[in-house]
Amino acid sequence: MSLLSRKISELQERKAKAEQGGGATAIAKQIAMGKLPARERINHLLDEGSFYEYDLFIEHEARGFGMEGKDLAGDGVVIGTGTIKGKPIAIYAQDFTVAGGSLGMMHARKITKIMDYALRMRIPLIGINDSGGARIQEGVNSLAGYGEIFFRNTMASGVIPQISVILGPCAGGAVYSPALTDFVFVVDKISKMFITGPEVIKSVLGEEIDMESLGGARVHSEISGNAHFFANSEIECFEQIKTLLEYIPANNECKHPKTKKNEPERKYAIDKIVPDDPTNPYDVRDVIRALTDNSEFLEVHELWAANIVVGFGRIDGRNVGFVANQPLVLAGVLDCDSSDKAARFVRFCDAFNIPIVTLEDMPGYLPGVDQEHAGVIRHGAKLLYAYSEATVPKVTIILRKAYGGGYIAMNSRHLRADFVFAWPMAEIAVMGPEGAANIIFRKEIMEAADPDAMRREKVEEYKQKFANPYVAAAKGYIDSVIDPKDTRKYLIHSFEVSEDKIVKRPNKKHGLPPF
Ligand code: HXC
Repeated sequence: MSLLSRKISELQERKAKAEQGGGATAIAKQIAMGKLPARERINHLLDEGSFYEYDLFIEHEARGFGMEGKDLAGDGVVIGTGTIKGKPIAIYAQDFTVAGGSLGMMHARKITKIMDYALRMRIPLIGINDSGGARIQEGVNSLAGYGEIFFRNTMASGVIPQISVILGPCAGGAVYSPALTDFVFVVDKISKMFITGPEVIKSVLGEEIDMESLGGARVHSEISGNAHFFANSEIECFEQIKTLLEYIPANNECKHPKTKKNEPERKYAIDKIVPDDPTNPYDVRDVIRALTDNSEFLEVHELWAANIVVGFGRIDGRNVGFVANQPLVLAGVLDCDSSDKAARFVRFCDAFNIPIVTLEDMPGYLPGVDQEHAGVIRHGAKLLYAYSEATVPKVTIILRKAYGGGYIAMNSRHLRADFVFAWPMAEIAVMGPEGAANIIFRKEIMEAADPDAMRREKVEEYKQKFANPYVAAAKGYIDSVIDPKDTRKYLIHSFEVSEDKIVKRPNKKHGLPPF
């Protein structure tokens, strides 16, 4: 046997040992919990045979607590680069079978190494989280590791897309890396995210709560809004990630290639979706699907703040972001959560040069003490800020109601929409006809012999005068009143002519959005 052959066998042995992670028993326990081992996760997500692993032979630096000499294969995290549908990505996956995927100094150093690669190579970063958090035995070194990760998440923000996948526990301060990234994926019954766990809550507050109800996948998809995509299985989750990557670029400087021109095979007749009666609801996603190539639409944050819909589609081969009021939920009003959701999405699209289509049909902001006390002024302002700040091509279609502050917030001309088009049944006004008539004609209504008849008459008078698109059209606030059937044509043209849009902003270190 030559020296090289012997060395290669030694390498193979070392590799095989390290790739065993925490060993057969720990792997069996992982599988019994319905979870895949770290390397299998990577293999399912990446193109076959495309994964190159680094730092497999890293050794941990834990001292004390009997940790010296303990073999922690790869220190509990797998890092590398590969491709997804041919596009390069960088990835790390924590290995729960090794010391609970806990984060020690070398574990953190591996993660920060792959983050540095991703930022230097300008490719998306995917982090699979499955960890008991800071490795208790490594104390402050472990905390330092988290700090280094958070700093890099922040530096990479808006430069490369960052995707977090929660496939196990993600507890304590560890949750802040996902929270700093662009998209968080969770899987039912598997993902658990919380700052303080059930035991701490019990000892401090005396309340009993299980992990699932505290920070399970549904909680973060429906209530907290921390998660953007919910899946029923790990495999479904990986498919969602692959689809998302088709809509977003590798970095903030690459121009989107137009995908092959798809002739739409749309199942939706756009002029039949919005009901005649302005108080009747409809699903705005049908309007989106009536506009996109092959009626495809990838919804983001589907289960949270459903009164606004955001997500990605393609128009004539061009990737675009949609922001649309959803009349099916709370009549599509704006409130704290929907403003946060839309503002964040608008900023993502703007950072990564994705044009935005805004579909508007909403009666304004949700009134009430709860909303005022929850800070609807502060949250609502985020949406105004995000649209005003965005320099990507921005087109608004007013489908029906555009009332009050909501009219301004939903990418109005005044916040620098490039094009604003209205459908013929649009109503652009300070408020709805009933409310408006009651205020401005209060005296006439009160003094009338038949106040109800007078109210009806005045509501009708107001509708005739103001509840239409022509008052705004007469001032040039909208560019055209269009037949709904022509909407896609107008969008295609708008994006064609704004391909090389240039906007200069005043120099500043950074703005101060109402965080
Ligand atoms: C060291 C850890 C660990 C940790 C788990 N392990 N978490 N080792 N540090 N943080 C080890 C366990 O000792 C065990 O080792 C193995 O991983 C598997 O853990 P189990 O408890 O057997 O698994 P399970 O029953 O599935 O429970 C998983 C768990 C639990 C819920 C995550 O392990 C747990 O509560 N861990 C502590 C979570 C936590 O409080 N972390 C600190 C958060 S604070 P053996 O050798 O027995 O197999 C934090 C601060 C970050 O992270 C701050 C950043 C700014």
